[in-house]
Parts: sequence; C-alpha cells; structure tokens
Amino acid sequence: MRAIATDPVEVMPYHAGMEYFDCLSRLHTALAPQRYLEVGVWRGESLALAHAASIAIDPHFRLDRNVMAGKSACHLFQCESDAFFAAQDPVALLGGPIDVAFLDGMHRFEFLLRDFANAERVCHPGGAIVLHDCLPIDPRITNRDQSEDLRRDAVVPGWWAGDVWKVPVLLKQFRPDLRMVAFDAPPTGLIVITNLDAANCTLNLAYDAMVDAMMTVDLADYGTRRLFDLLAPHSTALFDHPQALRAALFPGTALNIGAAP
Ligand SMILES: C[S@@+](CC[C@H](N)C(=O)[O-])C[C@H]1O[C@@H](n2cnc3c(N)ncnc32)[C@H](O)[C@@H]1O
Repeated sequence: MRAIATDPVEVMPYHAGMEYFDCLSRLHTALAPQRYLEVGVWRGESLALAHAASIAIDPHFRLDRNVMAGKSACHLFQCESDAFFAAQDPVALLGGPIDVAFLDGMHRFEFLLRDFANAERVCHPGGAIVLHDCLPIDPRITNRDQSEDLRRDAVVPGWWAGDVWKVPVLLKQFRPDLRMVAFDAPPTGLIVITNLDAANCTLNLAYDAMVDAMMTVDLADYGTRRLFDLLAPHSTALFDHPQALRAALFPGTALNIGAAP
C-alpha cells in the first residue's frame, strides 16, 4: 500500500539574533523617546524596559514587576485597544505625540491592522512603531485559533504568533511610503516601522479590502520563505550600534522625536 504523501511544512531556521526584549531595551536607549505607548502588556516585561512617560493598554493585566521604574508617568488602561483608541486621546494624555509604540496585543491580523492605523494617527512623524510576532518560522504557530493542539507538531509549540504576519505584507502593498526594517529577533521577529504619517488615511479607507484579501490566506499557502524574502530580516547586531541603528531607521533625517512635529 502506498503512503499518502503530505506536503512538507516549510519551516525557516530559528532566528539567530538577540531576544526581542534585548532589542527593545537597546531601541529605547538609541531613540530616547519621551512618550511611549504599548498595546498588549501581560506581565509588563516589555513595558518595564521603557523609561518614557507611557500609556499601556491590555484587557487583562498580569503585572508581576515594577513597570514604573524610570518613568515620570504611566497610564494603564485595562480594556481592549479598540475601546482605548475610541475613547482616549494619547496626545492629550502625554502632552504630545507618541515617539515609540510597541504593538503586541491580539495576535489576529485585523486587530493589529487597526492598532497600527490608530497608533500611527497619534505618533510623531519622526517616531517608530514596533511590531512583534510578524516573522514566524513555522506556519503551525500562525493559526488564528490559539489552541495548543494546533501547535503540537510545530518546531516551537510553545509560541503562538497568530496571523499578524499578514500586516507587514499588507503594509508593503498599501503603504509603500512607510519604512520597514525587520530583525531576526527570537522568538518570532521584530519589525520597526518609521516614516510615519499621522494624516495618511489609506489604511482606514482600504481596511475592508485588506481584511477580505487576507482573511483566508494561510502562511502554509503564502510561503514561509516568501515572507522572509519579502521582509529580508536584518541582524539584531545593529541594535548594538545606536548610530547605525538610527541611520537604518531614519536615513537622511536627523532624529527629532520629542519635539513638536
Ligand atoms: C503576548 S502578550 C504581551 C506581552 C508583552 N508585550 C511582553 O512582551 O512582555 C499579549 C497581550 O495582549 C493582550 N490583548 C489581547 N487582546 C487585546 C486587545 N484587543 N487589546 C489590547 N491587548 C490585548 C493580552 O491580554 C495579553 O496580555
């Protein structure tokens, strides 16, 4: 009897760089943001790395550390990010536009798409938005359903990246004006986006079309290698060189975050 052939899963090698927490810590040092916003906080590990005045949003905080260290202010909003952005004005809360935002909330792409559009609207044009989980090495950790059973055979079954990998793919297509620098930060990559434009409405106008286009696409069909080829991750070694990092993120422009836009 012949065995039924099954498609091999296209798995990329483990990310070889430094952990994303170490990258974020160095990013804060290199950019010295005055105002920081984080969506998806959980225990506060990434929030604790920021020393800027901060806004942090999560419907279920599980803080287990001092997230205030080094901060003059930290506003916690225990709600979903959509509800936060509908009701609050981050610019008024912190007295100016956001310099750095880290988006690590619900790992479904339509949520991250909205988080990105909402965050960009309140960001300084010389600021940066950082995305987590958008470079998964194994399609089996990218189901929209977080169920552990679906990840049992993955090379990294403990991680759930969801399908947020679709967001940089969509941004490349619909917002080619954005600068996107991806990094090989374990466990699931880090992407820093600059050249922000608070007045750009493209994502709001094209939101339904983008969601319709990608809702039923799986990474297994799209191709893991194709995603890595598209995003061409840099080595996280760049985070050890603040000047080179700033040059890569803001080519040809002087860093001016913290000032009036
Ligand atoms: C992966 S954890 C965040 C980890 C944290 N950023 C870190 O690196 O230490 C994801 C968090 O997103 C939160 N979350 C889920 N849905 C959300 C939503 N709609 N808006 C904001 N946060 C959400 C969850 O409660 C969870 O705490």
